[in-house]
Amino acid sequence: MSNFFLRLPPVQSGIIGHRGMSAQAPENTLAGFRKAAQFGLSWVEFDTQRCGSGEWVVFHDKNLERTTNGAGLVIDTPYQTLRTFDAGSWFHPQFKNERVPTLQQALSCLAYLKLHPNIELKVFAQPLTVEAIVDFLSILENAWPKELPPPLVSSFNLKSLKVLRSLDNKLPLGYIVRDPTESTLNAIVEAGFDSLHCDNQNFSSALLEKATSKSMALPVLVYTVNDPNRIKVLLQSGVTAVFSDVTDVIL
Ligand code: G3P
Ligand code: MG
Repeated sequence: MSNFFLRLPPVQSGIIGHRGMSAQAPENTLAGFRKAAQFGLSWVEFDTQRCGSGEWVVFHDKNLERTTNGAGLVIDTPYQTLRTFDAGSWFHPQFKNERVPTLQQALSCLAYLKLHPNIELKVFAQPLTVEAIVDFLSILENAWPKELPPPLVSSFNLKSLKVLRSLDNKLPLGYIVRDPTESTLNAIVEAGFDSLHCDNQNFSSALLEKATSKSMALPVLVYTVNDPNRIKVLLQSGVTAVFSDVTDVIL
């Protein structure tokens, strides 16, 4: 059976906060995690990638412009510079003190808040190197409390997930696929991953039926869903969880 059901905590109301709780606080910030906890979520998703000096930081885009007052590529920016940028004012002036968190800071904050993490590995060009993945795993090992269920790690990048699986045969892994087919499901099972994360636009009941059949028993998670009626329909149809920015309408 998938590690998802065996090892991970239930998703409260079936909703995973997307990039923290990005309708209520700047995405991928500690303020967003605090908001998610305050509003009673039990899980959050966030994105991570390496910056110029090699640290894993919590950040979605390749470039800094949209969500900070910095400029350029994250991969070219050392952490000492990145940490000086304002990652909150673009969203609302009240968040002007928010910084780009490191992966360690994010995990410590989530453990403290009792929020379960889904860590999305962002891969922009080449698949992650073995060295990068070993470094990522060592951060999980050191920063996430051993007595808690392990984080769910996901990615759009199949090769990186396969390397991750070869280095750690237990960590729950989710494959994110914009438009999955039956062969995606077979690939997930074959690779020993634990969940399928698919785009709301491309979700189909036929695919869900196959994924959740007795022989596969694969959890399907759907992103990014902000329409309360759609959330209800998806959860009632057997989707394990949805990723949502949690807009005011949902609250
Ligand atoms: O992990 C689900 C979702 O976050 C994937 O898309 O672009 O929001 O990271 P994106
Ligand atoms: Mg994401």
